[in-house]
Amino acid sequence: MLESHQIAAQEEEMATPRQPILRPFILFILSRLVIESFASDPPLTLDYYSSSCPTVLEIVRKEMECAVLSDPRNAALAVRLHFHDCFVQGCDGSVLLDDTVTLKGEKTASPNVNSLLGYEIIDRIKNKLESECPGVVSCADILTIAARDAVILVGGPYWDVPLGRKDSKTASYDLANENIPTANEGLASIISKFLYQGLSVTDTVALSGAHTIGMARCQNYRARIYGSLGENSHLSSLKSTCTAVEGDDKIAPFDYVTPNVFDNSYYILLLKEDGLLNSDQELYSSLLGIQTKRLVRKYAEDSLAFFQQFSDSMVKMGNITNSDSFENGEVRKNCRFINT
Ligand code: HEM
Ligand SMILES: *[C@@H]1O[C@H](CO)[C@@H](O)[C@H](O)[C@H]1NC(C)=O
Repeated sequence: MLESHQIAAQEEEMATPRQPILRPFILFILSRLVIESFASDPPLTLDYYSSSCPTVLEIVRKEMECAVLSDPRNAALAVRLHFHDCFVQGCDGSVLLDDTVTLKGEKTASPNVNSLLGYEIIDRIKNKLESECPGVVSCADILTIAARDAVILVGGPYWDVPLGRKDSKTASYDLANENIPTANEGLASIISKFLYQGLSVTDTVALSGAHTIGMARCQNYRARIYGSLGENSHLSSLKSTCTAVEGDDKIAPFDYVTPNVFDNSYYILLLKEDGLLNSDQELYSSLLGIQTKRLVRKYAEDSLAFFQQFSDSMVKMGNITNSDSFENGEVRKNCRFINT
């Protein structure tokens, strides 16, 4: 575990060259002060649905089993949906809302459009739950449970999921553009986005390990394969389909060794300069990433340490709550639309 002063030291070290990254950090401190002094959200609990919907965990598990059996990539889709939900106004199901005349959703924001997939998996789970226990289980909780199950189903660790989130009646296109890190953003800026969410440098490195499953599109890894970070024969082989000018939507697995298994090979690949995105490789290769490099080495050597930290960090990410949703939120009947 990292001490908070180490995180603060890292933050200071990286804050010096670029002023703007201080801003989210200051906002983060202020927002925590406000939250701590005025609001007290009801905590999430492990047994939240034990009397209102005792079969919720079985139902989600069964649906996720079908989804992952039919296509292992569905595991990656569920994990990423939960991440993109939590980084925008907290884990409140906002990412699932469709655009309507009165609501601009997050699905067309740049990190999500033509990229974020798997909404139908959540619809299917929601349908099952609505027939079993109508109006009880929030879409935000479904995302949390589905992400956890997805990880187990492809060989990753198990963790208990605190539950009791409410669904938002709003979404934020702007925050989806601002808060979600992107492939060619610098390491300092990416870390500051995690700090802003109350997550540490350790959480950043461990959660990035989700890229041990799933795929990316050429438009996101082109800068990496034609760029200046270390390169090797595997990345070069991608140039035939992802050319300098064509093939934007050609997909490649993050982990070409075990693309459908949740293991620590993501970190082993980073040691070999085989990371698919600039943002992946920078965790190991950036000159600013002294602490991140040490963590990458640790997780490459010790998969149990990775599994334990990943579980912990996923719970922490799932704990990013939206105070407004706790008060004014609801349990949506259809995850794509607020209740009428
Ligand atoms: C650290 C900063 C991160 C950056 C810059 C980043 C960026 C990206 C990008 C660019 C893609 C490919 C999208 C596309 O080409 O359409 C992607 C895919 C993915 N990301 Fe991340 N991500 C980050 C962190 C995370 C975290 C924290 C998680 C979950 C805990 C996650 C889970 C995934 C998964 C599972 C996929 C594959 C989805 C699929 O197969 O379609 N990522 N990410
Ligand atoms: C997450 O929240 C639950 C309940 O609110 C709390 O018991 C738990 O300690 C939190 N876990 C982390 C890692 O923040």
